Amino acid sequence: MARILTGIQSSGIPHLGNLLGAIMPAIELSRDKANDSLFFIADLHSITTVKDGATRRTNVDAVAATWIALGFDYDQNMLYRQSDLPEVCELTWYLSCFVPFPMLQNAHSFKDKSDKLSDVNAGLFTYPVLMTADILLYDANIVPVGKDQQQHLEMARDTARAVNFHYQTEVFVVPEAKIDTNVMTVPGTDGQKMSKSYGNFIDVFQDPKAIKKQVAGIVTDASTLEEPKDPELSTVYKLFRLVASAEAATAMAEKYAAGGYGHGHAKAELTEALVAAFAPARERYNQLMANPDEIDRILAQGADKARQIGTRTLDRVRSVMGTGPRKLM
Ligand code: ADP
Ligand code: TRP
Repeated sequence: MARILTGIQSSGIPHLGNLLGAIMPAIELSRDKANDSLFFIADLHSITTVKDGATRRTNVDAVAATWIALGFDYDQNMLYRQSDLPEVCELTWYLSCFVPFPMLQNAHSFKDKSDKLSDVNAGLFTYPVLMTADILLYDANIVPVGKDQQQHLEMARDTARAVNFHYQTEVFVVPEAKIDTNVMTVPGTDGQKMSKSYGNFIDVFQDPKAIKKQVAGIVTDASTLEEPKDPELSTVYKLFRLVASAEAATAMAEKYAAGGYGHGHAKAELTEALVAAFAPARERYNQLMANPDEIDRILAQGADKARQIGTRTLDRVRSVMGTGPRKLM
């Protein structure tokens, strides 16, 4: 049995790129009954960039509702809020006493963020240690992440090995990253990678009118309706083929290539496809967002199960480190 674990920060409302690039592939992986999956909402990590508490609550609800609405089986597995298990903060401290300072100084993501952000806080710097604790606390074997997280996973592996070596015992499971190089980069409305920070995203859980408006904003070239067009150069087509059936995508490519078919037509088809593809998930998402108590109940159930795993790991850690009370045998 492999234990799969991944987290999504609660720094915004999940967009189509997050769904297709991270959440749906992870749910697919969790369907294998041989696996045991822990998916969580990294709300502590989001404090590095988002300071408003009410915004965080909404974002946590949105991320949780997304996992649930897209069909993650939270009864068989675990869906939880990172901050519901403060044990992770204790583990972060122990680990930070083993992480060499230069390892954090060399983190690409810290360098990128500290160049871009005005608020360069210590949390941004120690972000990878908390992420390592997220993984090691639950004895995860496999961690599906995007390419941008590869270095963080290497740090987690190095740290696990360093502690195991120091105490000459297997305190931690050494996790493996699962980086799917085939995973698509979903383009945003401006043709660049879809990202909340570029404001070029499509939110598929909104009502159809709002989806239509976002789709209308997709940047297209200035060719006339009559001209034949290369579908590969159209962001509308690139998004369409990610959400429509293979036949419908081929049909759109042929219409583009034949001419007499404009970007406006393609946008109408894309809107329809997005509305249809996520119709059941949209309904469930909206039900959940209107009922945050249900979200809390599901997250609490996940946290209770995850705690049973985390407590055993922390016992091993405290025992080798000589902290906490001696166990009465
Ligand atoms: P954002 O770029 O919007 O801030 P995050 O960095 O929070 O998104 O990403 C959360 C997860 O979604 C990561 O696993 C990331 O690889 C994935 N992801 C984000 N944007 C895209 C995209 N445009 N295409 C594919 N996957 C994406
Ligand atoms: N840093 C990850 C991201 O931004 C989110 C994350 C936090 C995570 N803790 C994790 C991912 C542990 C995997 C495992 O995408």
